[in-house]
Amino acid sequence: MPGGLLGIESLDRVEIETILDRAKNFQPRQSQNQRDVLRGRMIVNLFFEASTRTRTSFEIAAKRLGADAISITASGSSVDKGESLVDTLNTLGAMHPDAIVMRHSASGAPHFLARHLPTPIINAGDGTHEHPTQALLDARTILDRRPTLEGLRVAIIGDIAHSRVARSNMYLLSKFGADIVLCGPASLLPVELQQIASGVTLTHDIKEALRDADVIMMLRVQLERQHESAFSSGEYFRFYGLGLEHMSLASPHAIVMHPGPINRGREISSEVADSQRSVILNQVENGIAVRMAVLERVLSN
Ligand code: CP
Repeated sequence: MPGGLLGIESLDRVEIETILDRAKNFQPRQSQNQRDVLRGRMIVNLFFEASTRTRTSFEIAAKRLGADAISITASGSSVDKGESLVDTLNTLGAMHPDAIVMRHSASGAPHFLARHLPTPIINAGDGTHEHPTQALLDARTILDRRPTLEGLRVAIIGDIAHSRVARSNMYLLSKFGADIVLCGPASLLPVELQQIASGVTLTHDIKEALRDADVIMMLRVQLERQHESAFSSGEYFRFYGLGLEHMSLASPHAIVMHPGPINRGREISSEVADSQRSVILNQVENGIAVRMAVLERVLSN
């Protein structure tokens, strides 16, 4: 991946497996491995949208590999003074970073950056399009508990329409033969999504989605990408929130995932989020390991 990582759609299985295998070496119990492979390299984290997990874990990942990591957020940068995206990018390019990690509210913004600069670009989430490292860390988290993704029934429930996490997971899971059930209210579940990957079915019934599910991925309602919400918090939870009472519908060993940030009482109850079934904090932990593997691979030559 010398040109960076813009999405899962364009990666093949071998590339994905290579990253996931390498990430295992960077998990905490293996943490003595390959600490300084990026010493002397500079990684710029350029975040035009809010982030806790992705920005922090990219920064930790870079530092664990010995690189210098600099984080820039739109708020507090010269973007606040009216600097355009192109001028911001040219300014950063003139500092010759070895890679730029970018999050932006516009779908395709990292692709634009990749065309504009010779620097490798890593997409940390672009609009409603893709969030590739999230799908990779989700796959790592599932494979820590299951021998294969093939044949798994994965229910992705919530605001699918605005979810780059759902799209990247759909691309990845379908490449490995998982069965994917997308579930949400009609206004948040566009039917055309069924076409973007194989093995995808749609339902508006959460009980149907959960039936025999091996993996339950809950998604936040992305109010920041909607002009107005059609639902009150209570109404949404009544029809699409995950409570403990739902868990008997799923496989006995089902795990509950959520990319975060979670909204307790809106899409997931605290009882489920804090239960033994929840692997939400394991996802966060794997975020560092996977991003170490991605940074190492992107910068390896
Ligand atoms: N999952 C995720 O992207 O979280 P952040 O928005 O906190 O980075």
